[in-house]
Amino acid sequence: MPLFEYKNLLKYLLIPTLFFPLLLLSACDQPETNAGIAYTIPEQPEQPTGYNPKPGWATSEFAVAAANPLATDAGYQIIRAGGSAIDAAIAVQLVLSLVEPQSSGIGGGAFILAWDGEEIHAYNGRETAPSAADENLFLDENGNPLPYRDAVRSGLSVGVPGTFALLKTAHENHGVLPWEDLFTPAILLAENGFNLGPRLHSLLDSDDALKNDEIARAFYFDEDGNALPAGTNLKNPAYAEILRNVAQDGISAFYQGNVAADIVDRVSSHERPGVISEADIAGYPALDLRTEVMCNDWREYEICGFPPPSSGHIAIMQILGILDELELAEEALVDSIPSAEWLHQFMEASKLAFADRNQYIGDPLFVEAPAGNWQSMLNSDYLADRASLVTDVSMGTAEPGNPGDFYSAYGVQIQQPESGTSHISIVDRDGNAVSMTTTIESGFGSRIMSDGGTGLAGGFLLNNELTDFSLTPTDDDGNPIANRVEPGKRPRSSMSPTLVFERESGEFVASVGSPGGAAIIHYTAKALIGMLDWGLNAQEAIDLPNFANFNGPSVLEEGYFSQTIIEALEAMGHEVDVRALTSGLQAIQRTEDGYFGGADPRREGVVMGD
Ligand code: GLY
Repeated sequence: MPLFEYKNLLKYLLIPTLFFPLLLLSACDQPETNAGIAYTIPEQPEQPTGYNPKPGWATSEFAVAAANPLATDAGYQIIRAGGSAIDAAIAVQLVLSLVEPQSSGIGGGAFILAWDGEEIHAYNGRETAPSAADENLFLDENGNPLPYRDAVRSGLSVGVPGTFALLKTAHENHGVLPWEDLFTPAILLAENGFNLGPRLHSLLDSDDALKNDEIARAFYFDEDGNALPAGTNLKNPAYAEILRNVAQDGISAFYQGNVAADIVDRVSSHERPGVISEADIAGYPALDLRTEVMCNDWREYEICGFPPPSSGHIAIMQILGILDELELAEEALVDSIPSAEWLHQFMEASKLAFADRNQYIGDPLFVEAPAGNWQSMLNSDYLADRASLVTDVSMGTAEPGNPGDFYSAYGVQIQQPESGTSHISIVDRDGNAVSMTTTIESGFGSRIMSDGGTGLAGGFLLNNELTDFSLTPTDDDGNPIANRVEPGKRPRSSMSPTLVFERESGEFVASVGSPGGAAIIHYTAKALIGMLDWGLNAQEAIDLPNFANFNGPSVLEEGYFSQTIIEALEAMGHEVDVRALTSGLQAIQRTEDGYFGGADPRREGVVMGD
C-alpha cells in the first residue's frame, strides 16, 4: 500500500501514541484476494481509548469516514478499486459488524441517504416487529412494563434484521463493483483476524450480560470470563462463512435457511424468549425499502434527512428553526465553548422538539402524520409559534404543540434510554455522497449472538431495536402511544443521517451523522450549527463540547463547561446534569480543493481519502 494512503491515518494514530511505543500488532502487507478485488489487510497499531484528538483530514478526490480505522480503510480500498460511495458503505458496514460489533451489524438495521448528483435517495432498513408481537410485548403478567434492562437483554427485544436487505437494495440502485467483491475486506479480516481494539475491550469488560450468552462467552471472553485483552488477534470463522454464503448466493442465504433458523433458535431459547419466526425473517426482503427523503431550507442551505420512523430530521430541524426565531444570544461561542445564553436557547428549543417527538412520531405505515404531513411539524408559522414559548427563564418541561392545528389522540411517550449505533459518511470520486447511520441499538444489542447455524466460533450480535418502541402501549390516561409495538411495525429512531446542499446551486455541502441514542439529535444539530452557522470546519465542529436536553434536565458534557456557565444556566431555572456525552460524529464537507473530513475524538473513527 503506498505510504500516502496511510499518511493521515498514521497522523491520527501517532498523536495519541506519542508517549507509547507504537505496537504494530500485525502487518500483512501482501495483497490478498478473495473475489475480484485486491484487498490489503492494513497494519493494525494498537490505539488508546478515551479522548484522542483528531487532526481533520483534507482530501482532493474522495473521502470515507467511519467509526473504526479498519472499516474506513475497507471503504477507502473499495473506492480505489473503482467502487462507488454505496459500494464503499457496504464494505464499511460489513467490517464494522466484525470490528465494532457492539454498535451495528448484520443483526441490526440502518438508514441510508444516497446523493447521486441529481437526486437524493432514502432507504429504510429499520428492523420490524415480528408478526406475533403486539402492544403488550414488554408487559409482565401484571400488565406492568418490564424493567428496561430486562427488556433489552431478552429475546423480546430482537427485531427482524434489515441491514442486508438495505445493503442489497442500495447496491442494486447505486453499486458499481460486483456485490461479492464488497465482502472481500470483511471476509479476509474475519479469517485472518483483526486486533481487538481498546474500546471494544473496555466495553466487553464492563458489560455484565454478554457473557451469559454461550456463543458470545466462548468468543469474546477467556475461560475465567474475562474480556479478551486489547490487541488480541480475533478471528471470526462463523462470520466469514456467513459472508461467503451471502456474497455468493445473495441475501437469501441470510434471510432463509440456516442463518434464519439459528436466529429464531437463539431468540426463542433465551430465558426470556422472543417471538420472531422464520417467516418474519424470510419476509423482510420483500419490503419496499425506498422512502421519501425530507429536505428543508435553513438559511442558504437545504438540509436533507430521514423521515419517520426516524424522529431525527424533524427534531433537528425544529431545533434549528426555533433557534432562528429567537433573538440571538449576544455571544454564541466564547473560546470554542457555547455561552450560557446560547445554551439556554438550545435547551429550550430541544425541549419543544422532544415534546413533539414523544407525541407524534412513529412508523408512518402505522401512524398518521399531524395534519396528514410530517412537514406540518416544520412549518415556519408553527415553529414561530413554538419559539414564542421560549423566554429568558427555563420553561421546565415543554408540552407538545398542535402542528397544522392538529389535535392528536395519541398519548405522550415517556423518555426511555436509547444508545449505541455508528455513523458512516462517504463521498466518492464522482461526487456521489452517502450518509448512513446503522445500529443494533444498545451496546452489544440484545446480548444474543448467532453463529448462523455454522457451528463455528463467533458470528454476529442480534439487535435490541424493539426497545426503541414505547414499552407501554398507552399513557396514564389510557391514550395509545404512537410508537407502541404493533406487528410488522418499525420502532421510532433518533438516527439522523444528514446531507446538506447549497440551496441556490444544489451543490453538495456536507454529509454528517452520529451514534448516541436520543442524543444523536443534539450531536448532529451541534455539528450542523458548528459547520453552517459558526463557520467551523468538520473537525472543529465535531470537537465542540456536547450538550443535550430530552425535555428535562439540561445535560452538559463533563470536563468542558465552567462553573460560571453551569451557575448561569441554573440561575435561568435549568436543572443541570454534567456527565459523559460520548458522541461518535463523522462528517465530510466539500471544500474549494476537495473535501475535509472530521471524526469524533471521543471514539476510534478516522477519515481516509485521496
Ligand atoms: N437505536 C438507535 C436509534 O435508532 O435511534
